[in-house]
Amino acid sequence: MNTITLISGSTMGSAEYVAEHMAEILEDSAFSTEILHGPSLDDLPLEGLWLVVTSTHGAGDLPDNLQPLSDAIAEQHPDLSNVTFGAVGIGSSEYDTFCGAIRSLERLLEDHGAKRIGDRLEIDILKHEIPEDPAEKWVKEWSKLL
Ligand SMILES: Cc1cc2nc3c(=O)[nH]c(=O)nc-3n(C[C@H](O)[C@H](O)[C@H](O)COP(=O)(O)O)c2cc1C
Repeated sequence: MNTITLISGSTMGSAEYVAEHMAEILEDSAFSTEILHGPSLDDLPLEGLWLVVTSTHGAGDLPDNLQPLSDAIAEQHPDLSNVTFGAVGIGSSEYDTFCGAIRSLERLLEDHGAKRIGDRLEIDILKHEIPEDPAEKWVKEWSKLL
């Protein structure tokens, strides 16, 4: 079975923990996974299945460890037409720019030919003290689409 590449963007660790938890669930369902926290474009396979998990910082911005990847895609225009991906955001609805990072990254990936599988999950930390809980529920459904 193809490996699912989990890509996390995080400032204080929440999105990393969520990515790691989802990887465990996927492994339990017999998927193979690779987790990359804040990868560069060169670290990524430009085909196959990605699961992108990122929090939002600043005013709708990507975390510092994922901004270089976004910049590299915007500058180098890789062909991502052989990439399919799932999208998970973590943010706080107290901001007008709730989950802005995953929304903009998703648009960027789609602009370069990648296709999203399933609905985007947006986890609101004001509603979910433990973000792994909605992530676990979502990834179990998402994996059925693969
Ligand atoms: C300075 C700061 C700015 C933030 N800006 C946003 C924002 O614009 N939109 C949003 O949805 N959440 C925002 N958040 C909430 C974070 O996304 C949330 O705390 C998340 O759990 C952090 O996850 P991380 O530890 O993976 O970085 C902000 C948090 C901080 C501390």
